[in-house]
Amino acid sequence: MHNDISEILVSEKEIDHICTELGQTLTHDYKDKNPILIGLLKGCVPFMSDLSKKIELKVDMAYMSVSSYHGGISSSGDVKIKMDLDISVSGRHVIIVEDIVDTGNTIVTIVELLKHRGALSVEIATLLDKPEGRTKPYVPKYVGKTIPKLFVVGYGLDYNEYYRNLPYVGVLKPEVYTSEESK
Ligand code: IMP
Repeated sequence: MHNDISEILVSEKEIDHICTELGQTLTHDYKDKNPILIGLLKGCVPFMSDLSKKIELKVDMAYMSVSSYHGGISSSGDVKIKMDLDISVSGRHVIIVEDIVDTGNTIVTIVELLKHRGALSVEIATLLDKPEGRTKPYVPKYVGKTIPKLFVVGYGLDYNEYYRNLPYVGVLKPEVYTSEESK
């Protein structure tokens, strides 16, 4: 698995630092607000787990599963809800926990949906931001690290469902997906 990675972009140590910093900021900004953390499955899992432990507030934790990739390395632009929330967001402050914002399609769709359902506020805490990939204008409020337009895997991020269990974020060697896509 590690042999398929050309470069480590965000190390375990840096991820730990990002979670600590973002956790402190969210603890400060949401004091007395009892927010709901909504994780977008499956990529959010390690980040949701580590970040939530650094937020020193009572929070609800809920999950949605949405898909825009359908495998491969680029967004289809078509966001589908595969599993919906089991909690109402009406009258609540929501923090969406994402692994990465790329085109912005997923986040813009989910923010609109949650506002339509009556959320008082909806912000994003994303581990990574790839602003060069944006096709819809969206600036996430809480960003762990801004990265260039590269396809990355690890710490929740996958390529065809693999590599989510890498403890760091790395750049996948292009030959891994070019050889897969030519099959
Ligand atoms: P967006 O809708 O294009 O902003 O993409 C958001 C989703 O696409 C993320 O939650 C990821 O699941 C996936 N994604 C975007 N960039 C990458 C990447 O570099 N590696 C793996 N998945 C990615």
